Formats: sequence, structure tokens, C-alpha cells
Amino acid sequence: MMLKGVILIGGPQKGTRFRPLSLELPKPLFPVAGYPMVYHHIEACSRVPDLKEILLIGFYQPSESLTRFIQETSQQFKLPIRYLQEYTSLGTAGGLYHFRDQILSGSPDSFFVFNADVYCDFPLNEMLEFHQSLSSNTRFTMLATQATRQQSVNFGCLVEDKKTHEVRHYVEKPQTFVSTTINCGTYLLSNDVFKYIAEVFQKQQDELFNGSMDTLTYNRDTIRLEQDVLAPLAGTGKLYAYTTTRFWSQIKSAGSAIYANRHCLELYHKYHPERLSKNGEGKPKIIGDVFIHPSAIVDSTATLGPNVTVGVGVCVGPGVRVRESILLAGSKLEDHCCILHSIVGWNSTVGAWSRVEGTPCDPNPNAPFTKIEGDTLFKNDGRLNPSITILGRNVTVPAEIIILNSIVLPYKEITFSVKNQILL
Ligand code: GTP
Repeated sequence: MMLKGVILIGGPQKGTRFRPLSLELPKPLFPVAGYPMVYHHIEACSRVPDLKEILLIGFYQPSESLTRFIQETSQQFKLPIRYLQEYTSLGTAGGLYHFRDQILSGSPDSFFVFNADVYCDFPLNEMLEFHQSLSSNTRFTMLATQATRQQSVNFGCLVEDKKTHEVRHYVEKPQTFVSTTINCGTYLLSNDVFKYIAEVFQKQQDELFNGSMDTLTYNRDTIRLEQDVLAPLAGTGKLYAYTTTRFWSQIKSAGSAIYANRHCLELYHKYHPERLSKNGEGKPKIIGDVFIHPSAIVDSTATLGPNVTVGVGVCVGPGVRVRESILLAGSKLEDHCCILHSIVGWNSTVGAWSRVEGTPCDPNPNAPFTKIEGDTLFKNDGRLNPSITILGRNVTVPAEIIILNSIVLPYKEITFSVKNQILL
């Protein structure tokens, strides 16, 4: 048997809720627990013995950071990884269809598809076993999980046959409650999926040319996997759900990166205990789960944790306290500053005795109350819902300042304390 993994990484117009952090690097490369987001997908793929190639599909211009990441990760996992660039956003099924020859080369039996902005303890081998137990040759397995009634309407909702696990009904982000079982954005698809995508493509072309389509609002290249391809297959005996009870989260807003970071650190107990910092003589005080990059310099009088990631070359001074936060590469925390529920951007500096604090978005940042109204930061009037604090790249916070529940855009030098603001 041979399988492939396809990761949909989107492109520059995507990830708007992740600003200002996605202004700096492609969102799929944002580090979660010390490793780029898609690194975790690739690592999960490497645990499937028959998975022989990984394709990243997106519409980012190839960049040095992406190319380097692919080379290094490919070498590390001894798996061929390639980036296939769409000429424009083709939609989640459009990109697959455009590169179908590459996906089908070598005749895989079926292939996994991942949304890059979901994070979980991917149960890929279990999903594969379930998929193989299905009788039909044309079968599509969707990873599913349980949400609360209130959260569910923000996701793809499905109703399954409890005995066979066939998906009987599927609605993407329904207007009213459909089901608490939601789509996790991870699929195992048999090659026949291209037949169904081709039908949608043909139908769209026919409608376009016979004039029945509204050409002003319709992007003729876009085909969505969930709505256009899989939803119509519900109830036909071809679409199935494999439900996971393990941790799952989307990474849409920067706040959800903190949540994913926490759970990813927790998963290190299972897969990589060596990555978690331990207490010891001459070392900083560690509380709970903490990842410190080997190149970081942390003073032995600092206290870190729980749920802290310290990135490449970070410098943490004496008496510093950090909790539930991500310190990105090259950031510098001077003596006795305090960082709580925050992301400190690349090469940013926090001065002595300053306090950078966000509001914890517990228990789950996917819950609607923590989302910023109007979908993107910049459609907003500058006021935030309770959320974490984010310092963009190269921000300077001087000594003895308080930054509370705010977002600071890159290259900003702050001169006064701020609360509940977006600083441009
Ligand atoms: P939102 O809540 O509106 O973000 O919807 P969603 O969660 O259903 O996300 P969406 O379908 O937009 O994206 C799912 C995943 O596919 C993300 O990882 C995107 O980066 C990726 N994606 C979205 N559109 C495209 C596309 O046109 N091409 C590629 N290659 N990837 C895409």
C-alpha cells in the first residue's frame, strides 16, 4: 500500500485573523511549541508507515523561509516533501484538482488532506484502519470531533449514522443548530475524489458559458472541498466520519496559537519528553510545560511556565516571570519584567520591570466570545474583545510600562502604558 499527505497551506490573503503575526511570515510557518505549525502535520504523517510523500499546496510565492523549511524537514523525516504553488487561490478542492497528476503519480491507494490551520493529536493510523474497514472502494473519511452546541455553528456540522458512521447530512457553518459533531479539516480520500471534483468543475464551466452564473460575484476557479464536493456526497454511502476524542483546535486567531501551544506542549509528554525543560541547579525555575530552544539564554533567577515556549536566540533576564506565552525568535526580556498570556514578536524588547499582559481566553479560543467582531483586526474600530496581548516584530517596550490586552503592530516604539488598544 502507498499513501500520500497533502497539506493545504493557503496563501497571503488568508490568515487575516492572525495579523499582525502573519504579516511577517506565512502563517503555516508560525511556531507552535517551538516548531512551525505544519511541522506538526508532517511529523504526524511520518508516523504512518505507508505514507511516502507530502505535498504542500498553496498560493504563497516560494520564499527562502518556506524552501529552507521544506528542505530541512524533508531531510529530518526522510520523506520527500514538495511545495506546489497555485497561480491564484483555487479553493480547497480546486488546488487538489489542479495538481491531481502530482498527487496521483506513483499510484497512491488514497491520500490524507489536511487544513494547515488545524492542530490536533492526529489519529492517522486509526483513521486509516477505519477507512480500510469500509466496504466500498470509493470512500471518503472525514475526521470529526464534538463541539458544544453554541460553538458548533462556526464549523462544518455533520449528522452521522451511529452504527455505520456514514455521514448522512453535512452543512458548512449552518445558520441554526444542526449537530455537535464537527468536521476537523482532516480527510482520507480515495482517488475517485477527482471524479467528483471534475463534475463540479464541469458544472461550473457549463453554468458560466450558458450564462446562468453570476459572473460578477463568481470566481470561476474556486472549488471548495467541503461545500462543493463532500457535502453533496452525504447520504450516498461514500462519506464517513471517524470521530476523535483527542485534543483538536483551529489556529485562526493569535489567541488560538496560545491554546494550541499549550496542548502541543502537553503532547510532548507522549511523543517528545526530551523537548520539555526540567528544573535543576543553575537553571531557571520551570512550572509545568515549558519548551526552551537550545540557543536561548535564560537567567537562572527567571521563572517560566506553565505553557511557555521560548524561541531561537531569545534572551531572558534575571527575575523575569513568563506564563502562558510564546516568545518569538530574537526577543529580549529585561530584568524583572512580567509576560502573561502574550506573544512577544521577533526581535522585540521588553524593558525592566515592565508588564505585558493579555486576558486568558479559556477554555477554548474557538468559542465565539473571544473572536474579534468583523473577522479581521483591521475592520475593527480599535477596541478588542478580551484576548491575549501581541507584540509584533521589533517592538520596543521601555522600562516600567504596562501593556494590557492590546495588539502592537511591528516596529513600534511604545512610550506610555496602554490598555485595550491596537497600536498602529
Ligand atoms: P474560515 O473560518 O473562513 O477560515 O473557514 P475554514 O476554516 O473553512 O477555512 P478555509 O476553508 O478558508 O481554509 C481551510 C484551509 O485550507 C486553511 O489551512 C487554508 O489556508 C487552506 N486554503 C483555503 N483556501 C485555499 C486555496 O485556495 N488554496 C489552498 N491551497 N489552500 C487553501
